Amino acid sequence: MKKLWGGRFQKTPEKWVDEFGASISFDKELVLEDLEGSLAHVHMLGQCGIIEPAEAEQIKTGLLLLKEKAENGKLVFSVDYEDIHLNLEKLLIDEIGPVGGKLHTGRSRNDQVATDMHLYLKNHVKEIIQLITSFQQTLLEKAKANVETILPGYTHLQRAQPISFAHHLLAYFWMLERDKQRFDESLKRINISPLGCGALAGTTFPIDRHLTAELLQFEGIYENSLDGVSDRDFIVEFLSNSSLMMMHLSRLCEELILWCSQEFQFVELDDTYATGSSMMPQKKNPDMAELIRGKTGRVYGHLFALLTTLKGLPLAYNKDMQEDKEGMFDTVRTVEGSLQIFIGMIGTLKVKKEKMKKATTEDFSNATELADYLAKKGMPFREAHEVVGKLVYTCIEKGIYLKDLSLEEYQDASSLFTSDIFETIDPYTAVAKRISDGGTGFSKVKEAIAKADKALL
Ligand code: ARG
Repeated sequence: MKKLWGGRFQKTPEKWVDEFGASISFDKELVLEDLEGSLAHVHMLGQCGIIEPAEAEQIKTGLLLLKEKAENGKLVFSVDYEDIHLNLEKLLIDEIGPVGGKLHTGRSRNDQVATDMHLYLKNHVKEIIQLITSFQQTLLEKAKANVETILPGYTHLQRAQPISFAHHLLAYFWMLERDKQRFDESLKRINISPLGCGALAGTTFPIDRHLTAELLQFEGIYENSLDGVSDRDFIVEFLSNSSLMMMHLSRLCEELILWCSQEFQFVELDDTYATGSSMMPQKKNPDMAELIRGKTGRVYGHLFALLTTLKGLPLAYNKDMQEDKEGMFDTVRTVEGSLQIFIGMIGTLKVKKEKMKKATTEDFSNATELADYLAKKGMPFREAHEVVGKLVYTCIEKGIYLKDLSLEEYQDASSLFTSDIFETIDPYTAVAKRISDGGTGFSKVKEAIAKADKALL
């Protein structure tokens, strides 16, 4: 098969070598972006008098035809034409004849592929931002329904202090807010045009890069042609932002997995997001949460793969850079899919309020209340800590909790204790009182919900 670039070659590579080098099996995902870029390029060629206006029109018609076919899944690509760019050029020439060969005037696949990926990521990052917002809305709705739902908060996975479940959910709301800001901020680096950088050095044709940038709704152009075709920072940044967001999702997955275990029983997943066991009839496994936690690893992998691919590359384009695509596509699919699953999974989550509450009464997560109580009555906090630590020890010895000690036992430990301690160590009171800024106190959580509502406007 004669190559589109075959002029200087004496023989054609063997089929398996072609297959090894080809990217069409995956870069066909860029078909619409590639056509969009070509439409802008050919319009500019016509406007700048580089090709005849009639030729430009003919090529545009051909490209629009290909676009229609692509949208209907009617385009057939071949490994003989290596990648999406050459496949489309070949299909164009088949469609409209040799004039199609004028499309590539003043352009290289190097600026072409970079343009495609900028267009692709621009659209998907916007989509991801919308999905994050929907997920934040879901979290916020759940938070609103659970302001006074209390559960033990943990440090070191040991019960620490009781908190409002809404407060816990809102922690993820704010993580996602930062994730969203990072994606949003990255758009200004994604949204610039490398088109017209040529192979590496620009072109002798009187092209208008600003015109193509404008047609493709880019906000500006790469200042340096070598940088324009060599830069994959915007993809690294995307993978990095995705890794960070997946890490947040993965932490929530881990919590959901714990919470729906027999040991916690704090929540129940809707059947849609769980699966059974082929052997053990009683099982309801939190597969989707486990999968998202697992997929986080592959997103990190894509980040490291691309950083490693790029680290030794001389300017400008090198074929190594063809390796930038699969990880990017896979990350887009993983991130979008994970967010979609999460929207449904949290939206339908059954919160077992009674189990959560019960857990706060059968632990020592109210011990800090007692220490604070003594400290408020003037005892140095360090001493108060010691007194309460001893009381906790006594309880553990007796197999009871702090609420079960008698007033006399408290007063033996310190004369500062009076009968109001029982109210103080009630988990509900303990949560209600934590009204420092950013704290879990119910009134503060209500304020936080109002702020979160505002952040989504
Ligand atoms: N398939 C190539 C890639 O994805 C397109 C650019 C090829 N450029 C070249 N000079 N071989 O990177």
